[in-house]
Amino acid sequence: MSCSMRLNRVATRCWRNWPNGCGARCIESRMDWDLHALEAQIGALSHDRSLREPRELGRRIDALERLECWMLRADLMADASLAQRAEVLTAELEAINRHVYQTLRNDIRQGDGARVLHEWHATLRRIGDDEGYDALDELIGGVLQLGEPQDEAELEDEMVFYQPTPARHILDFIQRVPLNNRDVVIDLGSGLGHVTMLTAICTQARCVGVELQRSYVETATRSVHALGLRNAQFIAEDVRQARLSDGTVFYLYTPVTGAMLRTVLDRLKCEAQSRAIRVCTLGPCTTVVARESWLRADGEADHKRVALFQSR
Ligand SMILES: C[S@@+](CC[C@H](N)C(=O)[O-])C[C@H]1O[C@@H](n2cnc3c(N)ncnc32)[C@H](O)[C@@H]1O
Repeated sequence: MSCSMRLNRVATRCWRNWPNGCGARCIESRMDWDLHALEAQIGALSHDRSLREPRELGRRIDALERLECWMLRADLMADASLAQRAEVLTAELEAINRHVYQTLRNDIRQGDGARVLHEWHATLRRIGDDEGYDALDELIGGVLQLGEPQDEAELEDEMVFYQPTPARHILDFIQRVPLNNRDVVIDLGSGLGHVTMLTAICTQARCVGVELQRSYVETATRSVHALGLRNAQFIAEDVRQARLSDGTVFYLYTPVTGAMLRTVLDRLKCEAQSRAIRVCTLGPCTTVVARESWLRADGEADHKRVALFQSR
């Protein structure tokens, strides 16, 4: 799965940088087919009834990616009738997807989100490399309806810009860390809130996102209210000052680096003196966290998934 412009539609800056980004497939599309072949491809998609079945979300997302790439072609857009067919098909498939997302939003409001999300996770299971985003992120983007992030405050050096944890890593984290209603999961640098919200949907834990960018916090809070998630909340604060005393599980997708990360880890170490805590990491901060003598790794180190640590 690759086309950065389609998936999830928030934080577009990072999606343009996907390792297997849209560019490669678009070029491939241009090279592979002349206009007649493209017409046949669009015709085949238009006549494929099974593509309209709700459960075929993965295939629809793939078809929409291809259509989006094809519609970047000047020769296709110059053919008014073919361009219109591509646009109509795109609108039709997007409408079916919106219906799927709306159904899942209703499931979440009724407290059945965890089961349905895990089913979709199994259905959309990706095959191949572990980098980047996939159809599950498109689904989650459609369900959370976070929109485009607003203008951001200037980040200082050592503060890492927004990039969401890929959804399959969040669900993997939720499956591997036992969480109950006595747990408080704090996502340090929560961005638009994917980790906080998915954890709140799938578990009984209280989930808190701490994020410097006030506009992200406002967007995430609107989504929490719309989905009726009573166990999720967002706080606009610097992770170096945020209250940590409630937390039992701390999640870090490398929000800060260098001396700022040191400050955060020292604060977590202080918390660990009064109670057992878990620290879960993704990205470059994992290497730094793995060197902390007050933590022990929970399982094999695997940099392709969320790393789990427990205080000693
Ligand atoms: C890599 S993103 C992770 C987003 C989210 N945790 C996720 O996994 O989807 C890092 C986030 O940390 C935020 N951030 C950076 N420095 C911060 C600080 N000092 N205090 C709070 N948030 C910060 C950024 O604005 C950004 O949203």
